[in-house]
Order: sequence, then structure tokens, then C-alpha cells
Amino acid sequence: MRGKGWKDAGDKEPSESGSARTETGRKRRMEVAGLGAIAEVLLVVVVVVVVTVAVAVVVVVEEQGGRRLSAIRTQPARTGGTDHAVCNINESIVLEAAEYLVNLGLKDVGYRRVNLDDCYSEKSRSPAGDIVASAARFPSGMNSLTDRIHALGLYVCCYSDSGWFTCQLYPGSYQNEYRDAKLFQDWGFDYLKYDNCAIPYDDVIRQGIVGKYQRIADAIAQLASDTGKSPLILSLCEWGEEQPWLWARRYGQSWRTTGDISSNWGSVTDIINRNSFIAWASDFYGHNDMDIVSRHNRNGDLTYEEARTHFTVWALMKSPLLISADLSSISEADLSILANEEILAINQDDVIGTSITPFRWGINSDWVSNSTHPAQYWSGESQNGTVFMLINTLDEPADMFFNLTESPWVRAGRQYHVRDLWAHTDNGTAVRNFTAEAVPGHGVVALLLQDAGDEPDNAGPPCARPHWCIHKNGTLAPVTSNTSLHTSSIGLL
Ligand SMILES: *[C@@H]1O[C@H](CO)[C@@H](O)[C@H](O)[C@H]1NC(C)=O
Ligand SMILES: *[C@@H]1O[C@H](CO)[C@@H](O)[C@H](O)[C@H]1NC(C)=O
Ligand SMILES: *[C@@H]1O[C@H](CO)[C@@H](O)[C@H](O)[C@H]1NC(C)=O
Ligand SMILES: *[C@@H]1O[C@H](CO)[C@@H](O)[C@H](O)[C@H]1NC(C)=O
Ligand SMILES: *[C@@H]1O[C@H](CO)[C@@H](O)[C@H](O)[C@H]1NC(C)=O
Ligand SMILES: *[C@@H]1O[C@H](CO)[C@@H](O)[C@H](O)[C@H]1NC(C)=O
Ligand SMILES: *[C@@H]1O[C@H](CO)[C@@H](O)[C@H](O)[C@H]1NC(C)=O
Ligand SMILES: *[C@@H]1O[C@H](CO)[C@@H](O)[C@H](O)[C@H]1NC(C)=O
Repeated sequence: MRGKGWKDAGDKEPSESGSARTETGRKRRMEVAGLGAIAEVLLVVVVVVVVTVAVAVVVVVEEQGGRRLSAIRTQPARTGGTDHAVCNINESIVLEAAEYLVNLGLKDVGYRRVNLDDCYSEKSRSPAGDIVASAARFPSGMNSLTDRIHALGLYVCCYSDSGWFTCQLYPGSYQNEYRDAKLFQDWGFDYLKYDNCAIPYDDVIRQGIVGKYQRIADAIAQLASDTGKSPLILSLCEWGEEQPWLWARRYGQSWRTTGDISSNWGSVTDIINRNSFIAWASDFYGHNDMDIVSRHNRNGDLTYEEARTHFTVWALMKSPLLISADLSSISEADLSILANEEILAINQDDVIGTSITPFRWGINSDWVSNSTHPAQYWSGESQNGTVFMLINTLDEPADMFFNLTESPWVRAGRQYHVRDLWAHTDNGTAVRNFTAEAVPGHGVVALLLQDAGDEPDNAGPPCARPHWCIHKNGTLAPVTSNTSLHTSSIGLL
């Protein structure tokens, strides 16, 4: 069911270049699952990354007892470690979230996964040792729920923990990894968020964080080998505490890079800042998970501009896109943010899997870590051109200027068509540089630049980047503004 579903999601096989990015994790799965399973694994991974967008969902809750649904796009919803309301889930809430995904058109733009988070089970395992779905919250049973959600054309995801218990002290999967993975698969789940609470004492585990997560990865691989089914997609959640971007791709398809997000601008900029230094770690086979798109989570502590910035950054950095919101009351404005297909297309790009990265920090010097004023000028490749993202971290409107060749993905001597991915307009042709005027405070600009041929004659000085640019007769390129750089270059010569 899953294999077919994934293909129905309209995703393509990874391209040649994508396939070439062999990862250790892939190799591991190949060894265990055998060649036949490999193609499917790749397909799934692509889907996750990209189409994860498509998925989403669910669950959950809200702080003051209100209900919170999380729609997700590739990843799990919050773990809700301190939020007891997060446990306020049941089968009707989950099913309703799935129905809203369909009815609001979110499924059509790619949100296709409904994630259960913590608190779905009884507090104790069965006498046989299995996790048991909560009889009070899921009276119809898990298979009934997943059947109904699958019938809507959506996938369903589940949650467990690498320790003795989950964060809300329901059964964790430590020492039951294979048993639980099998149960989850039998329940119709195809994806597992795996948390990091209640870990065993050292004299029991005698493993570090890597070994702890390898246990579930081994179980998933063994299960795939035993059943011939696709491996569960694994979403690691250890809050970025032990540099998962360095090792988690061996085991899973995404990893949280930070602690839980809060729905305020400071939390958003802090997560952007942290991820700006590890953006390179996202590709088709593994994703920095920046946590849920949270505005829809906590009653809109973000302004509209902030929510748009939040969503844009998460999407263009190829984070899983997890909606967490009460979809029954989501506003048109919020919906339009989540459903921006031009932005989603880049998140789901099936040719380019890597994140955009900063090329200039802006207000602060390059490479400065600053949780309130992260990098402002970003670019990256896409299948249709070069993506630029500008974040105005100031509280007031600002003009934002960049030279095209500040980005490594732009060709010197060429001009570019400019597409505004929020205004959905063609904004003329950029020669040498571009200025976005009066970008609102905490706002964002997302542009797609497409090569439009050679720039006009006399577009400017002979070299847009004059540093060490030289005529073949040995004359350094003239510049309009300041030639002192060149003078020092001559010294180097
Ligand atoms: C689920 O929770 C909602 C809200 O608390 C409630 O109205 C509904 O009856 C519950 N459904 C089940 C199956 O418990
Ligand atoms: C590239 O353009 C095609 C054709 O307009 C579109 O279908 C696709 O979604 C675009 N991809 C990206 C990543 O923008
Ligand atoms: C972060 O950057 C802003 C803008 O440059 C600056 O005002 C602020 O002091 C910086 N914060 C820290 C902690 O350095
Ligand atoms: C692109 O043009 C549209 C329509 O005029 C305008 O609303 C938008 O602000 C422009 N975008 C940029 C980045 O200048
Ligand atoms: C931007 O490029 C245009 C066209 O080459 C040029 O006339 C203008 O001076 C440039 N602006 C800046 C600030 O470099
Ligand atoms: C943009 O290019 C112009 C002309 O080469 C140069 O003077 C200016 O310093 C550049 N600005 C940035 C931000 O790179
Ligand atoms: C070298 O080429 C530059 C640019 O065309 C020209 O201005 C300069 O006079 C030339 N120098 C010599 C020594 O030919
Ligand atoms: C060129 O830049 C240097 C170093 O920033 C500065 O001292 C000098 O005054 C500038 N010259 C001109 C003509 O702008």
C-alpha cells in the first residue's frame, strides 16, 4: 500500500546527480534490504524530503486545553515534552485533521502525512510485551484509524522513543526496537519519529547517542529484510544536542537540529541562526529538521510577515514542513502561506536536494552567530534557476541590495529574469544587481532568477567582482568606486 501510495504522490525517481550522492545510510540499507529494496528506498526518501511537504499532520494540541492539530509535511509534530495538552489526542481528532488536509486543499499541494505524536498508547505494554493503543482515545483501534486515513490518500505516522519511556512517560522502545517497529508497520504506519527522553543509565546502555539510534535503524533494516516491505522512514529527534547532522543520515531521513520551537520571532531567528551554519547537511537523503512551522501552533504569536518568513526559510532550507494548527479554524492568510506552491516547489525540487545557504550575513559580519540577527542574504540552486532569499531582521522596513555574483550560482556577464515567489509576478530583468525595496521588518523576499542571456554592453565595469580580475595584457580591471583593492592586488602580483 505504501509503495503504491508514494508513487501516486507524483514523485519522480531521483535524478542521476541525486542518485550519485551515495550515503552511508543508503549503503547500510542496501546491504540489509538487498538490491530490490533500494530503488524503493530512494523513492521514499525523495518523497519524504520533498513530498513530505505533502504530508502532514496532525495532532495535537494546545496549551490551554484547546485542540491543536498538526499537519505535517515531512516530519513529526512536536514532542510536547512539557506541554500536557499535547496529550489531548484521540482518533476523532486525528481523523478530523486528515479530513481537513483534504478539504482545505493542503493534500493537493503536497501535505500528505498525518503524524501522531506522544500519548497514543496505554501506559503499560501488554503481557506479551507489545505497546497497546489507548482504549479510551483510540477505541476503534489503530488499524481502523490508519485504514480510514489511507482511504483519504494520506499516510500516517507514529512516534516512539529511544529510551525506556517517551517524554510523557508512555512506553519507549529501548530493547523493544524490532518488536515495536513491526507493530508500527502492522498498524499501517510508514514513518517513525524517534525521541530522546528517558534514556537508560550508562551501565545498562554502554552506548553513546549514535549507538542508541543505531539500535532502531538496525531494527528497521532487519524488519524490511524480513518482510520485504519498505523500511520505515526514520525521523530522529534528539534536539540537535550531539550534532546529528554529522551522523544521523546513517540511520534516518531527518533529524531535529534544535530544541522545540516556540511561536515567537526570537525562537524563529534563533533556529535560523543555528541552522545557517549547518545548512549544507540537507540533501535528498537527509534533512535538517527545524521543527514545526509553528505559527499555526500557538495562536499566532507571530505576525503575518513573521509567519511568512518562518515558512519561507523552512521550505527553502529543505526542512520537513510540519504544520501544527487547529485546521478547523485556520485563517485564509495562514492557509495561503502554507499553500504557496512556488515556494513548495523548491522545497520539493526533485533535481536539487540541497538547502540554500547564506552568501552574506548583512547587518553582522559574515559567519557571526547571532540569535536575534541571523544571516540575511541567501541563495541556492533549483531545477529552474537560482533561488535568492532576503530576510529583513530589523524591526523596520529596509531596502535590501545584492550583487548577483555574490551568489556562487550566478554567471558573470549574464542577466537574469526575476520571479517574485510571493508576489507571483515577473519583476523584470536584473543586470549586475537587484534591490528589494522596503522589505517589511521581519519580512522576507524570495526570488527565482533565471538566466536571460548575455548582459547588455556597457552594463558596468568589465568585472562585477573586480578583485583580481585582469585583462590578458596584464591590466587590472578598472572599477568605478574604489581602486585601492586593486592597488593592493598589484602588490600581491
Ligand atoms: C476526542 O476529543 C474530542 C475533544 O476533546 C471529543 O469531542 C471527542 O468526543 C473525542 N473522541 C473520542 C473518540 O474520544
Ligand atoms: C520548475 O518549473 C516547472 C515548470 O513551470 C514547474 O512545474 C516546477 O514545479 C518548477 N520547479 C521548481 C523547483 O520551481
Ligand atoms: C546581534 O546583532 C545585532 C545587530 O548587529 C546587535 O545589535 C546585537 O548586539 C547582537 N547580539 C549579540 C548577542 O551579539
Ligand atoms: C515584484 O513586483 C510586484 C508587483 O509589482 C511587487 O508587488 C513586488 O514587491 C516586487 N518584488 C520585489 C522583490 O521587488
Ligand atoms: C547595479 O547595476 C546597474 C547596472 O549595471 C548599475 O548601473 C548600478 O550602478 C548598480 N548599482 C550598484 C549599487 O552597484
Ligand atoms: C556590488 O558591486 C559593486 C561594484 O562592483 C561594489 O562596489 C559593491 O561593493 C558590491 N556590493 C556588495 C555588497 O558586494
Ligand atoms: C590593456 O587592455 C586595456 C583594456 O582594453 C587597455 O585599456 C590598455 O590600454 C591595454 N594596455 C596595454 C599596455 O595594451
Ligand atoms: C577607497 O577605500 C579605502 C579603504 O576603505 C579608503 O581609504 C579610500 O578613501 C577610498 N577611496 C575612494 C576614492 O573612495
